[in-house]
Amino acid sequence: MSTEQRDAIWQSLEKRASSISGQTIRSLFEDDGDRFSRFSVEAAGLLLDYSKNKITKETLDDLVALAQACGLENAKAAMFAGEKINQTENRAVLHVALRDFSARVFHVDGENVTLGVENVRRRLSDFCARVHSGEFSGYSGRPLTHVVNIGIGGSDLGPLMAVDALRPYWIKGRQANFVSNVDGQHIADVLAGADPERTLFIVASKTFTTQETIANAATAKEWFLASGASEKDIAKHFVALSTNEKAATEFGIAPENIFEFWDWVGGRFSLWSAIGLSIALQVGYSNFEKLLRGAHVMDEHFRAAPPEKNMPVLAALVGIWNRNFIGANAHAILPYDQHLARFPAFLQQLDMESNGKSKTMDGANVAQATGPVVFGEPGTNGQHAFYQLLHQGTDLVSADFIASAISAADTGDHHRLLLSNFLAQTQAMMRGQTKDEARDALNEAGHAGPDADILAAHKTFPGDRPTNSILMEKLTPETLGALIALYEHKIFCQGVIWGINSFDQWGVELGKTLAKELLPKIAKLGGDADQTRSDDASTDGLINWINDRRGKA
Ligand code: F6P
Repeated sequence: MSTEQRDAIWQSLEKRASSISGQTIRSLFEDDGDRFSRFSVEAAGLLLDYSKNKITKETLDDLVALAQACGLENAKAAMFAGEKINQTENRAVLHVALRDFSARVFHVDGENVTLGVENVRRRLSDFCARVHSGEFSGYSGRPLTHVVNIGIGGSDLGPLMAVDALRPYWIKGRQANFVSNVDGQHIADVLAGADPERTLFIVASKTFTTQETIANAATAKEWFLASGASEKDIAKHFVALSTNEKAATEFGIAPENIFEFWDWVGGRFSLWSAIGLSIALQVGYSNFEKLLRGAHVMDEHFRAAPPEKNMPVLAALVGIWNRNFIGANAHAILPYDQHLARFPAFLQQLDMESNGKSKTMDGANVAQATGPVVFGEPGTNGQHAFYQLLHQGTDLVSADFIASAISAADTGDHHRLLLSNFLAQTQAMMRGQTKDEARDALNEAGHAGPDADILAAHKTFPGDRPTNSILMEKLTPETLGALIALYEHKIFCQGVIWGINSFDQWGVELGKTLAKELLPKIAKLGGDADQTRSDDASTDGLINWINDRRGKA
């Protein structure tokens, strides 16, 4: 379809948004008792209920037509075919190949990449078995029961989130820690509790040039050697996960301890690759493979299902509707599952690093808003923190609520309490409470008169807040895999509709360059620094203040 067709559909959606503005999501439910079956979909062990959004069948038809007009089917085919859809980095985007268990073979530049994927999977599986059995042990012969994953961004957030999420599957006696921040307190805290003879350091970095990771890895190596180990013992305690074998070898990691991946795996999409080693060591390789298989089921659904029944496509379209037509600038991720506590942080990178863009593929300015601000906390904690703004603030925030029907710890009444809160919040956000309802409740409680009227105003909830509910029977490796893949594909679809490249991240580079320039200007403790003042008055002032304290220390 042409740009004109896309624009025409966009305008039709704008009209629909304006004509529906007089209605509320609550009234849509009052008019149609069948909204749940009309606006929900099941796939890969997940249920997505998107009925509590301000959409109608006609809106959805237009949104599906928009996706078609934007060439979603072709873009999807290009991704699965290994075409270089990450144009600004001239790279293919094939994280789906990492978790494909069909007989399919993936190619990049005519080369069969499936062979490499299978080879690394075998090596990971073999390495896990050797560590778990004690065959691959520490330099003193003691088993390596502790893992410290050193990485940042995609080389940290995915594995950290998944290890947390799969806590019920942890192998007894094994412990995984994660160090990411260049703040030395992070590694110092982790090393303080570590036993060098039992610790395996995983240096996880796609590029093996990331300042934070290299600094942390160097500190870990120094600490290890200072503990009495020798240079040759490094081979028993340090492994690398990287596309940059040369840099990992130069760092001192034995070639047989380097697990490779490839430039067609984006950092934030890399937990399915060798970057997932910490997950596999903590929950066992077979559970890691189940995670991959769960994602693969979602991939197959995404590949084959028609748009109007396709979970990631629908999630993307509803997101576009809320962002571009209903006016939601922020999107909350609210897992009602303590084990998914790091899921919002993981999704922040996945979504905001992917779709926080303002240029189209050809370098022009985008014509519409792109990725929303993504944030979140697990329920019910968030309810006692920021939900006030979600319910009664002046900004419209859309939200995804995520929960399992059955908890790994179905102790006492906890899970029923949790689920009742989950349901209550989505209902409150949709329904709100009118002033009359608030006044009636006050009257019933014995409050009357003019004060009751003022209080009723404060107790009025506008409702009409769009939410999705995502349910699974249980949080398992398979459903977690499917859940992550759902978001990956959702984000991809939105990028296609917005016409942006969801797979580069140039916006993080400027800060890295400036940090390198500023480093010599910061005094060592009790020492001097480069006095050149070339910065703005604020930065100069801050440097002076810091150096004054550090110089005296
Ligand atoms: O700074 C952004 C980024 O490039 C992310 O995209 C990536 O996940 C992270 O840094 C870490 O990169 P690496 O794995 O190369 O150390």
